[in-house]
Amino acid sequence: MINPISLTELAGTPNPPGLREDEIHIWYAYLDEAGFDDMANCRNLLSMEESRRAARFHFPCDRRRFSLSRTLLRLLLSRYTGQSPERLQYLVGTHGKPSLPGDPLHFNVSGSRDLAAFAFSARQSLGIDVEYRRTVPDALDIAQQYFTFNEWQALNATPSPLQTQAFLQCWTRKEAFVKAVGQGLSMPLQNFEVTLMPGQPACLIHIDKNPAEASAWSLFHLEPGRDYVGALAIKGRGWQLTTRILGPYSGPADAHS
Ligand SMILES: CC(C)(COP(=O)(O)OP(=O)(O)OC[C@H]1O[C@@H](n2cnc3c(N)ncnc32)[C@H](O)[C@@H]1OP(=O)(O)O)[C@@H](O)C(=O)NCCC(=O)NCCS
Repeated sequence: MINPISLTELAGTPNPPGLREDEIHIWYAYLDEAGFDDMANCRNLLSMEESRRAARFHFPCDRRRFSLSRTLLRLLLSRYTGQSPERLQYLVGTHGKPSLPGDPLHFNVSGSRDLAAFAFSARQSLGIDVEYRRTVPDALDIAQQYFTFNEWQALNATPSPLQTQAFLQCWTRKEAFVKAVGQGLSMPLQNFEVTLMPGQPACLIHIDKNPAEASAWSLFHLEPGRDYVGALAIKGRGWQLTTRILGPYSGPADAHS
């Protein structure tokens, strides 16, 4: 279920949204929406390092999206932790995963085109990945290089109109998993296997050929609007997902399975 929330509400007094132990909160923001202009121009909550990184983007639109995404992350983290957004400091893991030192809150972020996706859990490390739905002409070649043999075979057997969808489902599920573990793409993507066929529920099939280890994980298929596909990975079962949209967007409901 998607409950839109306004920027004013988000930027107001910290008000912890109540993240239960069995809950995962997902927030989507469509950063090119005009409603974000004021925030892009006025609110500078970014650290020196974030501002320097923003300045390195060649295209203004990429700079704007990066700054907005980092600003929204700070505002969301501030709501969950009660800390002021501009004072939050990240600890960055060996492979680049940020966390909040001394705070039990887990979070992960993904961006593609104008979509920013933020995921939060009070109990367990998690990974989220979103991708813009686009044609991937060399999908089978990429799959041969990075996916397991079974995944490549399943993709090869998928009728061509559905192949891009299947490829992006596989890619986002794999990225969500390596982001949940925190290793990112330093983890070989052939070490574990996921489902990918359109209509098939999202599922980890094995990790290092071990199905029992895989069954300890939950993998969710995400559809953040018509133009995007995504996935969320988290250890444990029985999670409840709550999805919200930040800003003025009103689009089709999210689906997860
Ligand atoms: C993490 C990774 C999979 C992200 O893929 P992507 O599709 O390009 O980017 P996404 O938009 O989905 O995610 C980016 C966000 O993931 C988070 N992230 C970065 N590294 C991460 C990791 N190892 N695990 C989980 N999350 C990570 C950050 O919040 C990042 O946001 P930022 O760009 O604002 O800093 C990929 O960049 C990667 O593997 N990086 C690891 C590189 C590495 O090993 N570096 C070591 C030196 S730091």
